[in-house]
Amino acid sequence: MFYETQSNRHGLAHDPFKAIVAPRPIGWIGTRSSHGVNNLAPYSFFNAVGDKPKLVMFASSGRKDSLRNIEETGVFTVSFVSRALLKAMNSSSAPVPPEVDEFTLSGLEAAEAQLVNAPYVQAAVAALECRATMITTLQDMEGKSTDSHMVVGQVVGIHIAERVIHNGRFDLALADPIMRLGYMDYAGIDGLFELERPLVGSSP
Ligand SMILES: Cc1cc2nc3c(=O)[nH]c(=O)nc-3n(C[C@H](O)[C@H](O)[C@H](O)COP(=O)(O)O)c2cc1C
Repeated sequence: MFYETQSNRHGLAHDPFKAIVAPRPIGWIGTRSSHGVNNLAPYSFFNAVGDKPKLVMFASSGRKDSLRNIEETGVFTVSFVSRALLKAMNSSSAPVPPEVDEFTLSGLEAAEAQLVNAPYVQAAVAALECRATMITTLQDMEGKSTDSHMVVGQVVGIHIAERVIHNGRFDLALADPIMRLGYMDYAGIDGLFELERPLVGSSP
């Protein structure tokens, strides 16, 4: 099958786009408003986009509290979503007003970041402390502004729980991540294997 996204007539029960661009890691974004209210929300339009320096991005569909807080403070955290935190992650996505602290709402303890003024999930096996480097409203192919807003942040500090370090590595099997698929689907990892990049000439 083929369909043009302008009409988006795919003929399926649900739009398959997010099931195709999957699995996606979930960035659990921790921020603090200028009034001091902690905020936590999951974003699966999230990924690492650079490693020298370490850069991550997430995109907000519409202007949400996380975006607003980062516009005000310039900082955020990203907590790692393990399977054990699945329920709390989901609960933190509830569409509640900015004065509601989703850490409390989801029964989570907030830990204080060391280098930025933002909270992260104490129970998370890893968390990134980030300073925003770019906040931009994405444009469509005609150059028109959309209602998708991308935040890029430089990772300035990384927390890792000792219990997921094994043989000197961040052990992803122990960390037990969950990833977002399409529809209401999620995936975990059942096993890992290594695959070395081919060495041809001086490829990067
Ligand atoms: C697994 C998961 C992934 C999500 N990914 C996104 C996303 O990438 N972009 C987005 O705008 N909303 C996403 N949402 C919805 C937000 O989490 C939700 O709108 C939340 O209330 C936003 O919180 P905030 O206003 O405190 O930032 C996601 C929800 C879930 C459960």
